[in-house]
Amino acid sequence: TGLVTLDPGFVNTAACESDITYIDGGAGILRYRGYPIEELAAKSNFVEVSYLLIYGELPTAQQYEEFADRVRRHTLLHEDLRKFFDGFPRDAHPMPVLSSAVSALSTFYQDSLNPFDRNQVELSTHRLLAKLPTIAAYAYKKSVGQPFLYPDNSLGLVENFLRMTFGFPAEPYEVDPTMARALDLLFILHADHEQNCSTSTVRMVGSSEANLFASISAGINALFGPLHGGANSAVLDMLEGIHADGGDVDSFVNRVKNKEPGVKLMGFGHRVYKNYDPRARIIKKTADEVLEKLGSDDPLLDIALKLEERALSDDYFIERNLYPNVDFYTGLIYKAMGFPTKFFTVLFALGRLPGWIAHWREMLDDPARKISRPRQVYTGQAQRSYVPMDQR
Ligand code: CMC
Repeated sequence: TGLVTLDPGFVNTAACESDITYIDGGAGILRYRGYPIEELAAKSNFVEVSYLLIYGELPTAQQYEEFADRVRRHTLLHEDLRKFFDGFPRDAHPMPVLSSAVSALSTFYQDSLNPFDRNQVELSTHRLLAKLPTIAAYAYKKSVGQPFLYPDNSLGLVENFLRMTFGFPAEPYEVDPTMARALDLLFILHADHEQNCSTSTVRMVGSSEANLFASISAGINALFGPLHGGANSAVLDMLEGIHADGGDVDSFVNRVKNKEPGVKLMGFGHRVYKNYDPRARIIKKTADEVLEKLGSDDPLLDIALKLEERALSDDYFIERNLYPNVDFYTGLIYKAMGFPTKFFTVLFALGRLPGWIAHWREMLDDPARKISRPRQVYTGQAQRSYVPMDQR
């Protein structure tokens, strides 16, 4: 048994070695497989970044074509899986719909159950990358009561997703290139972030040798929480709340500083970044551009800018090294694109998927792999004797 160290939240405990993503939280550095996030954001695309994260190197032209083609060919959902969506209430939150449908993939592809079958892992990888956008679009269509569209595999991943989400059957859908590029960029920025809560969940579930679909479904549920991926929706709710109260940023910041229960500056702070989140820097630049091109003059942007300026010059936030994180501005972009607030975290999941897959595969290939099984420090009762019910 040996010495057990208590480390709630794993603040100082590394659970694995990893070659995938490097973060220097003090310097605000993020690299995927050694490539700075700024370069990937400017020069790459989401499919290429997915390949890079999963296979470790940038693809050659041929490798890229083969990979993109495989991901494109698996977009269709089994007809019975389509029917699955009928069982949910119309106003169902799309995150549990997403995780349920991903979990159900194990029932449609029972050949995926052996995580050591390399060909199967490849196939499951392609299936997931291809099908998650379709599942996400159907979760949206279900929530607004509109008919589902079959994927159009002549389109790229992001374009296909936008068409399935916002298009109508038998009506042409023009994909707005500004919107497609912005979403692709946001997916790149979300694609991996080393041992965050959902990725650690994927690794932990996978460490029991559960298959890829089961592990990713668990990761989606971990992402749902407001302190993790759910923060992007929570930021918008917060901005709307401040707007509804007359836009008084100061009084909101005071409530945060007074630690009113449940009142935090959502979209601020990070376990690892004690400096400006490099993703937030890129997103802030994009937000202005995109909001202008999509013709949105959202008053919430003004509130967000004021909040950021106010927080960055306030001792409470300075002392605690609290800076805007990836979620602070994304919601405004998603809103301008026409996504409802409760769908934002689904977009985070679509972006994070290649990172989850890369970590699951790395975990299984690790010769030092062991089932995840943290220890505890017991603080309960010492031994005592059972008391019959009539004597309690
Ligand atoms: N607003 C107000 N106070 C904060 C905030 C915030 N957003 N974040 C941290 N603090 C305070 C916290 O109360 C604590 O103060 P004190 O020392 O007086 O008790 C101090 O800063 C340290 O915070 P912590 O909670 O110990 O830090 P953590 O590493 O455990 O938590 C976090 C990190 C991201 C959960 C937290 O900063 C937070 O709740 N932020 C708001 C939610 C959010 O934006 N989440 C998205 C994270 S980035 C993308 C993702 O992972 O999905």
